[in-house]
Amino acid sequence: MEELKALKEEALACQRCNLRAHAQRVVFGEGNEKALLMLVGEGPGAEEDRQGRPFVGAAGELLNKILEAAGISREEVYIGNVVKCRPPNNRVPTREEVAACRTFLDRQIELIKPKIIVCLGATAAQALIGPDVRITKIRGLWHEKGEIKIMPTFHPAALLRDPTKKRPAWEDFQKVRDLYFALKKE
Ligand code: URA
Repeated sequence: MEELKALKEEALACQRCNLRAHAQRVVFGEGNEKALLMLVGEGPGAEEDRQGRPFVGAAGELLNKILEAAGISREEVYIGNVVKCRPPNNRVPTREEVAACRTFLDRQIELIKPKIIVCLGATAAQALIGPDVRITKIRGLWHEKGEIKIMPTFHPAALLRDPTKKRPAWEDFQKVRDLYFALKKE
C-alpha cells in the first residue's frame, strides 16, 4: 500500500527523538497490510535492531509458537512496535520517546484498519489503552477503541523470564483466536 510505504520512508528518516542516534536500524513493522489482527510490542531488541524486523529474537520465536498454536500464521497478521528504534540496552522507552513515535503507530493502525489489536506488554497497553494501566490488572480483558477490540497480555519476553505467566497469556491468546476466527468468517 502506497500510504504505508510512504509512512515507512518517513519513519526511516525520522530524527524526532534520540533513539535513532543509537539504533542501527529503524524497525517499522511488517506483515499483512490488510490484517484483521495486529500485534504491538514495545520496541526493537538487539536482534530486531540488527535485522530491521520486529520480533525476530528469542521473544519473537516464542510469539511465533503462540501464533502457531492458535492456528494463526505470522504472514496473516501485522506486527509492529510502539517505538521503532531500539532503546539502548533494551530499556523501557520514555514517555517522550513514545510520544515522538506516536504518529507512526497511529497511522499504521489507521491504514491497516485491524479489527483486533493485541498489546504485548505494559508499554503497548499504556500507549493504546491508558498511560497508567497495569498489565497485571488488565490483561485478558477486552478494551475498545472505536471499532477496534484491544487485548492486553504479557509480553513474550516476560513469559521467557517467568514461565508461570505462560498459562494466563495463552488464555488471553485463546480469546483473541476465538474472536479472530469469528471475524474472519464474516
Ligand atoms: N520486543 C518487542 O517489544 N518488540 C520486538 O520487536 C522485539 C522484542
